[in-house]
Amino acid sequence: MASSNGDALPAPADPSAATAASADGTPGAGPPPSAAPADPSVVVTPWEVSGIVDYSKLIQQFGSTELTPALVARLERVTGRPAHHFLRRGIYFSHRDLDKMLDLYEAGQKFYLYTGRGPSSVSLHLGHLTPFMFTKYLQDAFDAVVVIQLTNDEKFLFSKETKRPLEEFTRLGRENAKDIIACGFNPEKTFIFMDTDYIGSLYPNVLRIQRAVTYNQVKGIFGFTDSDNIGKHGFPAVQAAPCLSSSFPVLFGGRPDVPCVVPCAIDQDPYFRMTRDVTPKLGARKPALLHSKFFPALQGDNTKMSASDPSSAIYLDDTAKMVKKKVNKHAFSGGGATVEAHREHGGNVEVDIPYRYLTFFLDDDVELDRIRAEYAAGRMLTGEIKAALIGVLTPLVEGHQARRAAVTEEVIDRFMAVRPMEL
Ligand code: TYM
Ligand code: TRP
Repeated sequence: MASSNGDALPAPADPSAATAASADGTPGAGPPPSAAPADPSVVVTPWEVSGIVDYSKLIQQFGSTELTPALVARLERVTGRPAHHFLRRGIYFSHRDLDKMLDLYEAGQKFYLYTGRGPSSVSLHLGHLTPFMFTKYLQDAFDAVVVIQLTNDEKFLFSKETKRPLEEFTRLGRENAKDIIACGFNPEKTFIFMDTDYIGSLYPNVLRIQRAVTYNQVKGIFGFTDSDNIGKHGFPAVQAAPCLSSSFPVLFGGRPDVPCVVPCAIDQDPYFRMTRDVTPKLGARKPALLHSKFFPALQGDNTKMSASDPSSAIYLDDTAKMVKKKVNKHAFSGGGATVEAHREHGGNVEVDIPYRYLTFFLDDDVELDRIRAEYAAGRMLTGEIKAALIGVLTPLVEGHQARRAAVTEEVIDRFMAVRPMEL
C-alpha cells in the first residue's frame, strides 16, 4: 500500500465509501448486501490502512472467504509439499476462488500468478517483501508462470508530490525489480513489466474494462473525488488488465483463458473486486485471490510504516547495525515494565512486535513455539526475544543484499523481455 511509503492519499471522506457498493445502485464490485457494517475507525484501502484491523470482519465486509486449515491441507495434498508458514499461521487468511483453482489444477489446467509493486521508494521494506516471498513459494509449489506489474504510472498519478517526474518512478521501478528478482524467482517462468513500457499490450483490455465500469462505480469502490486527477479514475483498469491472460499474447501464445491467481495483502482487494465484477461482462474468467494480513510497523499494530519515518520500518537495504538498532530501540514491546513484573506476569505476545515479526520470518514452528511459551511465562526477557529476532532478520537482510548485488542491468532486462513461456 502506498501509505507505507509516505505518499498516501488522504483517506476518502467517507471511509466506508471504499467498501460500499457502487454509488449508482448497480450491483457494483462492493460487498454483498449482508456484509457487516464498516467500523469507521478502521480504514483499509490501497492508499491507507489505519485503526486496529479485525480481519474476520474484513472478510465479511469485503465478501471474501476465510482460508481455512482444511483448504490449506488440500493445498498441501495437491502440491505434495508442506504449506508455507504464512499459510500454516494464518498470515494469508482470506481468498476468493482458491478452491476452484485447485480443482482446475487437479484436472490438469495450469494457472499463472500475478502480483505487483507500486514503485515509491528505492528499497522495499519487510512488509513489501512478504507477497513476493509467498509468490515465489507458490511458483515453486505449482511450477507456475509469474507476471509482476511495476505500476510507475500509478505512483506518478497518486503521488502527493505533484512535481515529481515520471522518470523517477520508472527508475524506482527498476530498483524494485532488483529486490523482487533477489527473492529467487525462476528466470524461465517470470515476466516483470513496467506499465509505461508494456502498456501497448495491455491497452486493448484496459479499454474493454474502462468501458464496462462507470465513473460512479470507480468513485464508490475507491473513494475518488471530483477534484482527483482524471488519471486516477482510469488507473484501476490498468491494475485489472493483467488478470486476463489475453493481456500477455506472446507469453501465453494468444490463449485468452489461462486462469489467474493474485497473491497480495488485503489492501489491494478493491482493485480485484472491481476486476471480478467486470470480467464476466467481457467473457473472461474471474481471477482468484489470496489475501494476507498486514506486516505491522515497529511501533505496533495501530501505527503504519512510513518512508518519512525510517524508524517505523526495516528496509531491505538497512545494514545489520541498523536492523539491530531499530529492533532494540523502536520495536514495541509486550514485556513487563520491570524485570520483576515481567518475571511475575510474563510478556504479552498479542501486542509484542518482536514476537509478531518472528511469526512472519522464523520458519521453524518448534522454535517459535518455544519462544512464545518462554516469553509468555516471563522466563524469556524482552532483550532476549529482541536478540532472537535480530538473529533471524540479520541473515535474512544480508542474504537478500548479497543476492540483490548480483542482479545486473542485463539480468533485469532478461526478466523484462517479452517472450513465450511454458505454462
Ligand atoms: P505496493 O507497492 O504498495 O505493495 C506491494 C505489495 O506489498 C503488499 N504490502 C504489504 N503486505 C504486507 N504487509 C504490509 N505492511 C504491506 N504493505 C504493502 C501490497 O498488498 C502489495 O501486494 N498497486 C500495487 C502494485 C500492483 C499489484 C498488482 C499488487 C499492481 N498490480 C497486483 C498486487 C497484485 C502497489 O502499489 O503495491
Ligand atoms: N496498487 C498497488 C499499491 O499501490 C501496487 C500493485 C500493482 C499491486 N499491481 C499489483 C499489488 C498486483 C498487488 C498485486 O499498493
